[in-house]
Amino acid sequence: MADRLNILVVGGGGREHALSWKLAQSPRAARVFCAPGNAGIAQHAECVPISPSDLEALADFAQQHEIGLTVVGPEAPLAEGIVDLFRARGLQIFGPSRAAARIESSKVWCKRLLAKCGVPTGDFAVFDDPDEAISYLDDREPPIVVKADGLAAGKGVTVARTREEARQAVQAAMVDRAFGEAGSRVVIEEFLAGREVSVMAICDGENLYPLPFSQDHKQVYDDDRGPNTGGMGAFSPVPFITPDLAEQALETIMRPTLRAMAEEGAPYVGCLYGGLMLTEEGLKALEFNCRFGDPESQAVLPRLEADLVDLLEAAVSGRLPAEPPQEGRAAVCVVMASGGYPGKYETGRPIRGLDAAARMSDVVVFHAGTRRTEQGIVTAGGRVLGVTGLGDDLPAAIAAAYRGVEAISFDGAHYRRDIGRRKGG
Ligand code: AMP
Ligand code: GLY
Repeated sequence: MADRLNILVVGGGGREHALSWKLAQSPRAARVFCAPGNAGIAQHAECVPISPSDLEALADFAQQHEIGLTVVGPEAPLAEGIVDLFRARGLQIFGPSRAAARIESSKVWCKRLLAKCGVPTGDFAVFDDPDEAISYLDDREPPIVVKADGLAAGKGVTVARTREEARQAVQAAMVDRAFGEAGSRVVIEEFLAGREVSVMAICDGENLYPLPFSQDHKQVYDDDRGPNTGGMGAFSPVPFITPDLAEQALETIMRPTLRAMAEEGAPYVGCLYGGLMLTEEGLKALEFNCRFGDPESQAVLPRLEADLVDLLEAAVSGRLPAEPPQEGRAAVCVVMASGGYPGKYETGRPIRGLDAAARMSDVVVFHAGTRRTEQGIVTAGGRVLGVTGLGDDLPAAIAAAYRGVEAISFDGAHYRRDIGRRKGG
């Protein structure tokens, strides 16, 4: 066995809990740290109170604690150049450079790259001037998709049902600067109808190792009703993704994108997340993220049999193993959220039943927004927990997840009851 190493996970949500949980299982892991972590992550890692935005402090910590591998959860530190900083200091880190993170941090850069290398994606136009953007809308048939160029904490995309709604989205982004500088440019994009699916792939700059496909549920209420959230649940596998479609996704979207990034001088090392739409003309790319998905990771990582430390280290050093066989078990993650979320919500509510859920077989509880107090673990965010169930197939995984959810309670808790059972896929 190769050497054991100290590991640092950057972030403190459900995705980082899943990463810490999986990394800590590896015989390769010596000490695991998480900055800043949360009450659940503290079961597997030593939480350190450093903000993911304090890149220098993170690099100092990594040097002082002889961290052999840092894994970054959120997009903001990647877009700010955490990987470039760590590499310059001789520290091993899993994630894309600032230049490669543009695949997520600039939708304009991403769309131009896709167009250049012929990856199927919706037609689009780019605008720096709000008047030009608004007159362009006059010739478009709704629905019309308006996207702020930069990072907007998941709020920069509007799928407008009418021209008026599209105009308002342009106005909000470009004139009112609802997302700050991120909206000074917009992409106006063709609406793609179909079925959405996500694929995450571990990349070493040249090759990729695909993780199982997944789907998330963005709307707050059952049957995809109500406002968008950061994600109310996820499941994997995705029944409509046949082996042929999976191969098509890798061959026509993921691998050409990876190749094009290397050709642009921004080779991609890290987890490349492709958001895809299965349209009548086949799979097309909707968007890319430069990181693991949240809550997709809470469904996908528990299915992974490979050793995650080995895999991420292999990616960083440019020697990914051959592709894995398809994973057998299914997983479903149900998010339990605070009353009021995704609007204004309260925190500090005691959470009951965590121990009972922890004793259940085929149930893993990932903490997204929790805090430990003298009174026990309390809610500390909009999304509080991601309860993952595992089973031999999706119905068994759904049953396990909801067994876990029903054991847990806190004042105001709400969750969807239809995760993993999307009508029409
Ligand atoms: P993004 O922030 O780019 O992930 O977009 C958020 C969501 O908006 C996606 O997950 C899709 O559900 C939807 N979306 C984005 N682009 C399009 C498009 N061109 N056509 C239809 N839906 C889209
Ligand atoms: N669940 C979508 C994302 O991670 O961006």
